[in-house]
Amino acid sequence: MWSVLRDSLTLLSPLLPVAVHQSPLHQIKESAPFVVEHEAPVSHGGAWATAFDMAADAVSKMTVEEKVNLTSAVFGPCSSNSGGVPRLGIPGLCFDDGPSGPRYTDFVTQFPSPFFAAASFDRDLLYKKGLHIGKEFRGKGINVALSPITGGPLGRSPYAGRNWEGFSPDPYLTTQLSGLTVRAMQDSGLITCSKHYILFEQVEVCKGPVVNGQRTDCQFPSVEIDDKTFKELYLPSFAESVRAGTGSIMCSYNKINGTQTCENSVAMNKIMKDELNFQGFILSDYGATHSTVPSARNGMDMELPEAQYFGDNLIKAVKAGDVPESRLDDMARRILLPWYASRQHEDYPAPNFQKYDLSDEFEQDGMVFKNEHVDNRGDGHILARKVAADSTVLLKNDGVLPLKGIRRIGIFGSDAGAPPTVSGCGPDLFCIVNSERRYWNGTVTIGGGSGAAYPDYISTPLEAISLRARSEKIRIDQYLQDDATHFESIQTVAAASEVCMVFVKVYLVEGWDRDNLRLDHEGEKLIKAVEKSCAGKVVVVMHTGGQTIMEDWIDLPKIAGVIWAGYPGQESGNALVDILWGDVNPSGKLPFTMGRTESEWPPSIIREEEDETYPRSFFTEGLAIDYKWFDKYNIPPRFEFGFGLSYTSFELSHLSFKETHIQLNDTVQQTNEKFAGKADLYNVLWTASVNVTNTGEVAGAEVAQLYVSFPESEREQPPRHLKGFSKPYLKPGQSEVVHFHLRKKDLSVWDVKHQMWVVPKGKFKLYAGHSSRDLPLTLKVDMQETR
Ligand code: NOJ
Repeated sequence: MWSVLRDSLTLLSPLLPVAVHQSPLHQIKESAPFVVEHEAPVSHGGAWATAFDMAADAVSKMTVEEKVNLTSAVFGPCSSNSGGVPRLGIPGLCFDDGPSGPRYTDFVTQFPSPFFAAASFDRDLLYKKGLHIGKEFRGKGINVALSPITGGPLGRSPYAGRNWEGFSPDPYLTTQLSGLTVRAMQDSGLITCSKHYILFEQVEVCKGPVVNGQRTDCQFPSVEIDDKTFKELYLPSFAESVRAGTGSIMCSYNKINGTQTCENSVAMNKIMKDELNFQGFILSDYGATHSTVPSARNGMDMELPEAQYFGDNLIKAVKAGDVPESRLDDMARRILLPWYASRQHEDYPAPNFQKYDLSDEFEQDGMVFKNEHVDNRGDGHILARKVAADSTVLLKNDGVLPLKGIRRIGIFGSDAGAPPTVSGCGPDLFCIVNSERRYWNGTVTIGGGSGAAYPDYISTPLEAISLRARSEKIRIDQYLQDDATHFESIQTVAAASEVCMVFVKVYLVEGWDRDNLRLDHEGEKLIKAVEKSCAGKVVVVMHTGGQTIMEDWIDLPKIAGVIWAGYPGQESGNALVDILWGDVNPSGKLPFTMGRTESEWPPSIIREEEDETYPRSFFTEGLAIDYKWFDKYNIPPRFEFGFGLSYTSFELSHLSFKETHIQLNDTVQQTNEKFAGKADLYNVLWTASVNVTNTGEVAGAEVAQLYVSFPESEREQPPRHLKGFSKPYLKPGQSEVVHFHLRKKDLSVWDVKHQMWVVPKGKFKLYAGHSSRDLPLTLKVDMQETR
């Protein structure tokens, strides 16, 4: 079995696996002489030409020690700090997580997680969110945000514990949101770090005992992947981040076909720095550096969070000639380039907070750091509430919502109320985790680990619903536990409620993958117990970080409403109230597939063979992940990708397609990707359009979706790919024509033999509709010319 699999991978993959398997990189010892297979070229920075010159000039005045200082971590107040060159007035850089707001500190807005916010399918709104988060980072003096998560994980496996930090397993949606988030955050003057490069899909296999709540003896898997899957599925979102001008990239913990990512010359030098023409710096995830010479020579530019392999070891390696000084110059210049390009040398606040610590002053190693409690939140809470409300996905509604004419509501589940502490949980927000399962005794607004940010307050569902209920003269009663064994109490509250709202959750946290796709705390039992005795109808609200099996309860007679409220951030309750009472018409659409049983997803198990020193994960499903897998194998999902209900109805008509030639003004850095034909890979060569009409009785927004099938000759392609979306807001009876711009790359496939992007000749099929399975309009397009 294994040999068959590995042969087919090799056959399919003339570039990546062959280059990596045959390369000496994973066997290299630091003392052994070796050949760098791919030198990363210097292209003078493209749009950053002036900054490049400034960086090169500064580097030319530095000693080896000073240059190494830039590449290595030093002690400081931030999540990590790199060294500076005080003699030349160049400060070190302050790095901090993460995607939902600055982590570890106070007076920040805790925004919805990216996976949930992706459900809004709203480019303008998410641009505003990115820009606002960027300004909060800047206010704290953070030079580099370790964010966004641009496709690592992409979300191949529903079991991955960190999918909620990224956008969506659909590569088109993730490329779109990666590019615009990098642009938005950097428009605040910040430097972004697109992560985790690359194939960081599941976390780790841990065999050891649990110590202080953490499992030990963890090994990250090696991802075994072919060239086509790499180029078409996992790389495009990083390409968009580079095009949008991301200043840095974080190399990930896993291996690729046996070689550590942070010392992988193919991934870093050849693909990232040459093919994608990335001019900024690659920094290592914390602890993902495993060597000095191979890491430096194969493309890593900075080691975080400590100078274990760089620092003095790098100085020695340069002086011994094992790392050429020209390569050190390149590292230093790459680090300074985005700093100059973002004009941080002109005006940027110094770090004014202390990680982990919210007190006013903090002393360590004889240094005193002050927390100035800088408050750059402004109207962040209003934006956070809008993002959460516009991302909320209404999955089931038999007419119970929006709420009207009711006088008694029962609220059930610990997820409705406040957690006992927030920052008291520590930076990872998981002190209320017990060692067997991860339980959070209060409402889940965000997951744990690097994707978390402290909320300065939480609008809990109980608080927000109670406030609204007071003004509507509604009686509220509650049972804020998950334990359905106190059946009598549940029964008493439920029997007195016209609407029973059950709050359930799945709390995900960095460092753990999921054991199963069920609710935490056996939430299913709570739902069933409430359903049994509720006097009226049951509405289930799920605060889950991703795919959740609902089959035990969703078809029970009194389950009248189901809402996916994701990880909504600090404005959780207020945003939910907006939806429950119809102040905001739900318009969120699932950015992933909800299946019916766990066995329906591709097998994503990480394998450990007796004779191997590290676990391996075989990406044999190729391009068919999430809805593409369900479509390929004709599996009916419970709720498909792109699905979400509204309080109104929409109709699509008049799907059309025409050739265009538009150059979008969205590129900071051109890539060197190879392609057939003359027109640029990122020019819009075609435009599809469709008419959207609100046929119902209330105003609302609809995500019109465009899917494409490639010609039949492209046998590896799954049945349909999302290639466009647009979200018009329409009053009842109003219509609007929306346009889907198709760039050359959007209709290209990676030609493994010729190593280039090619638009295949033949019949494409276009589909327009309301979700990946509700596609009323189709159109055939014959492509015979290479443009
Ligand atoms: C490890 C995580 O994988 C990464 O995402 C994060 O940026 C660093 N820790 C710093 O917290």
